[in-house]
Amino acid sequence: RKREVKVGQFLTRYGGEDEYADVDWDKLGFGLMPTDCMYVTTSTNDGSFSVGQVLPFGNIQLSPSAGVLNYGQGLFEGTKAIRRENGRTVLFRPAQNAIRMQMGAERLCMLSPSVDQFVDAVKQTALSNKRWIPPPGKGSLYIRPLLIGSGPILGLAPAPEYTFIVYASPVGNYFKEGRAPLNLFVDDEYHRATRGGAGGVKTISNYAPVLKAITRAKSRGFSDVLYLDSVNKKNLEEVSSCNIFIVKGNVLSTPAINGTILPGVTRKCIIEIAQHHGYKVEERQIPVEELLDADEIFCTGTAVGVASVGSITYKNKRVEYKTDSKSVCREMYSTLIGIQTGSVEDEMGWIIEI
Ligand code: COI
Repeated sequence: RKREVKVGQFLTRYGGEDEYADVDWDKLGFGLMPTDCMYVTTSTNDGSFSVGQVLPFGNIQLSPSAGVLNYGQGLFEGTKAIRRENGRTVLFRPAQNAIRMQMGAERLCMLSPSVDQFVDAVKQTALSNKRWIPPPGKGSLYIRPLLIGSGPILGLAPAPEYTFIVYASPVGNYFKEGRAPLNLFVDDEYHRATRGGAGGVKTISNYAPVLKAITRAKSRGFSDVLYLDSVNKKNLEEVSSCNIFIVKGNVLSTPAINGTILPGVTRKCIIEIAQHHGYKVEERQIPVEELLDADEIFCTGTAVGVASVGSITYKNKRVEYKTDSKSVCREMYSTLIGIQTGSVEDEMGWIIEI
């Protein structure tokens, strides 16, 4: 049975009266499960975005000459809504995603929604799909804001109109390995980004080029690919879908944001948590040789969370890392998840209750 609820200023069709959608919550992976609603707004002639609408989730219509289809003017974000044991629902630092989308829009000559409109859109998407937010401990509602050049264009130029869409899907673990340690492959043939390019923003065009490297690595039994810088093939960059940290003693190091590294929201949180826990954090160039004597390696990302790395293979040499329950990775994971689920105090003010 459908009913209507007021979400923001809109009367929205809500999928049903049940607290939960009919989902086997124990079997969630990271795949699209269509939910009830999506938020949609389009840019106006004065350069702002119209008041958004919460619509039933479904296909959108685009001109074949839309900027996104022809010249790749597209950005996406990822953020999560979490259901807590006390029944409350929270968002985690959505303003950080809004700011990153604005940086990307500036790089790709696109119009972007304000931080307030972005955060409001994320809230409306989460609330209108509330029954799809997994029960506590079973996963989260992954929210995918998308900004596209929707206006028609033939000559190479910015599109005349932009559409901002936010949709959502319940998710569990990103990797099919679940929470088991990842086995990464260092690829020195394919690169993710280069200086002066757009690797430092979350453009859709950063993702298709890594599919070949990921597919090859997966066919050889690896979980994902760790990329090197494209100039010297000497320094660590990031993994296809997440940032990387190496741990040596009391020091956590991660590649510095230099235009080719995506400024991950989870990366930023882990830097702040680690410093708060008394670790030294270095954002710098990391020569690939440092993989040889690191104690631990872990990956961070919204979709990935904090994932430990069990081994890395580079030039046919496999190096293994510590992944036990006393690892720094486990400490970072537990703290981040604790802040999100409410068992660790949110001292930094990262949580927004909706
Ligand atoms: C995220 O972590 O939210 C991402 O956007 C990565 C994506 C490849 C799933």
